[in-house]
Amino acid sequence: MIGIGSDDLGFDVKERIRDFLVQREESVYDFGVYSIEPADYPDIGVKVAEAVRMGPVDCGVLVCGTGLGMAIAANKVPGVFAAPVSSVELAIAARRSNNAQIITLGSRIVSVDEACAIVGAWLATEFQEGASARKVAKVRAIDEHYRLARAQGTRSGQDEATVLCAARG
Ligand code: RB5
Repeated sequence: MIGIGSDDLGFDVKERIRDFLVQREESVYDFGVYSIEPADYPDIGVKVAEAVRMGPVDCGVLVCGTGLGMAIAANKVPGVFAAPVSSVELAIAARRSNNAQIITLGSRIVSVDEACAIVGAWLATEFQEGASARKVAKVRAIDEHYRLARAQGTRSGQDEATVLCAARG
C-alpha cells in the first residue's frame, strides 16, 4: 500500500497523484489534508512516516510547497528514509541507490504531470543492493546509534563531534 499526504500547498498535486495511482490500480491510503485549509507539513509528514515505520504502508509520497519541510519532518521518524526529489532522475536514484521508502515533492517546484511521472518512475525502480546496501546500512547504524543513546540517556555524539563538544565545554 502507498501512503500519500500533503499540506495545503501540496493539496492539489497530492489529489492528482492519488488519481494517478488509483488509475494504475495501486492500493492507496490518503493521510490528508482533505482541503486547502491551512495545514502544517509536520502534522501530515509524521503520519505517513509513522505508517511506513509501523508497516501498514510500504512506501509514501508527501507533497508540500518545496518538498523540503516534508522530507525534514519524515526523516525525524526512526528508520525512515525520505528523499526530496524534483526529477525522474532523482526519483530513480532515491530508490536505486538510497532505498528511500518516501519521496517528497514540491508543488512550487514540479508540475502535476512531472509529479506523476516522478512517482511512476520511483515505483518502477528497485533497490540495486551491492555497494548501496552497505551505505544504506551505515545510515541505519547512525539512526540506531542516536536511538540507543537516547534510550540509555548517554552522550550521543560520535567521534569528532564528541571531541569538538568537549573542547568547547
Ligand atoms: C508552507 O508552509 C511551506 O513552508 C511548506 O509547504 C513547505 O514548502 C515547507 O518546506
